[in-house]
Amino acid sequence: MKPLSKKVDNIEESQTIAVSSLAMKLRAEGKDVISLSAGEPDFPTPTHVKSAAIKAIQNNFTKYTQNEGTPELREAVASKLQTENGIETTGANVLISSGGKHALFNSLQAICNPGDEVIIPAPYWVSFPEMVKLADGVPVILKTNEETGFTFTAETLRPLVTPRTKALIINSPNNPTGAVMSEDKLRGIAKLALEFDFYIISDEIYEKIVYDGNKHFSIGSIPEVRDRVITSSGFSKAYSMTGWRIGYLSANKEIIARAAKVQSQTTSNASSISQAAALEALRGDESDLEKMRKAFENRRNILIEKLSTVKGISVPRPGGAFYLFPSVKQLFGRTYDGQVISSSTDAVKFFLAKAQVALVPGAAFGSNEHVRISYAYSEKDLTEAADRIASAISWLD
Ligand SMILES: Cc1ncc(COP(=O)(O)O)c(C=O)c1O
Repeated sequence: MKPLSKKVDNIEESQTIAVSSLAMKLRAEGKDVISLSAGEPDFPTPTHVKSAAIKAIQNNFTKYTQNEGTPELREAVASKLQTENGIETTGANVLISSGGKHALFNSLQAICNPGDEVIIPAPYWVSFPEMVKLADGVPVILKTNEETGFTFTAETLRPLVTPRTKALIINSPNNPTGAVMSEDKLRGIAKLALEFDFYIISDEIYEKIVYDGNKHFSIGSIPEVRDRVITSSGFSKAYSMTGWRIGYLSANKEIIARAAKVQSQTTSNASSISQAAALEALRGDESDLEKMRKAFENRRNILIEKLSTVKGISVPRPGGAFYLFPSVKQLFGRTYDGQVISSSTDAVKFFLAKAQVALVPGAAFGSNEHVRISYAYSEKDLTEAADRIASAISWLD
């Protein structure tokens, strides 16, 4: 038979999903595995949001909506972006999609031509390079490290910019590092975007989950770059609405029209019921958000306190999101059951085998010396997992 799509052969499977599936399989076999691998809040969706969805069904709000999203939700998103993020936008500049991932996919399809370079700071969220490839673009990786808190500046970015640079992807707070980019750094990067004429895709899906009094800053609020910034976000993380699949873009109208065209020929509108729920999430009581944020901050503190004394891993303190990204480099060369640990994947296999804790290898995020720990889990599970990790390491040869 004729060969299938080369483009798809060139795309990696999402390793976060692969590890979750492996942990689920072990659990199904009766193993007591604690999985700290998923990137999804463990809280229920707020009650008033669920009620709005039930009401939408009862009112037969169950048909296609406008491809771009309902006018009410687009307006509500625009108004949130204006008041909370300081982004000058309107409902007509907003596209509602089926999740943040879909919004980002549409944005890359809207701007990329074959061979266009898109700069992605590493460690990066797993889907960024693959989405760039799916848009026929070329991912260009900018390495960051612990010394700079996994952040970067215009000056570290400058050497990677070429005439083919079409865009830079910024994800602050970051998955997997939890790094938060300061306003100063973002202002410097905005100047560079103007100097070299590139777009900025700013993935702000973790904007509500910041700690230590940090304030989220949206690069799209800087007037000089307003037209070249595509702000992407959604309801999955802040409102614990991962299954509802609602995300959005705010950008200049030409970009929105192109992204909407892609959406119109692929998925069409996001679920009408979920859009009604998202509207209520924005308009209704937001007190659950702060409760969730505080719980995440508390869990981060517990985990850091426990893991910072464990020899063999070093744990940077993240400023946002709900992940730790410790280095496991010190475990390289050590052995268990005759196996040598020499990569992040080996380290994850070791933790799964000896601590029965499922983590995600840093290699999936472009860093082979780290593992990702999600703390979107109960304090009980986190405490138990940290103890198991510590005692597993103490058995290593
Ligand atoms: C950085 C980042 N962007 C976007 C998304 C996509 O979120 P959604 O579930 O809304 O598609 C995720 C989800 O894990 C993420 O971590």
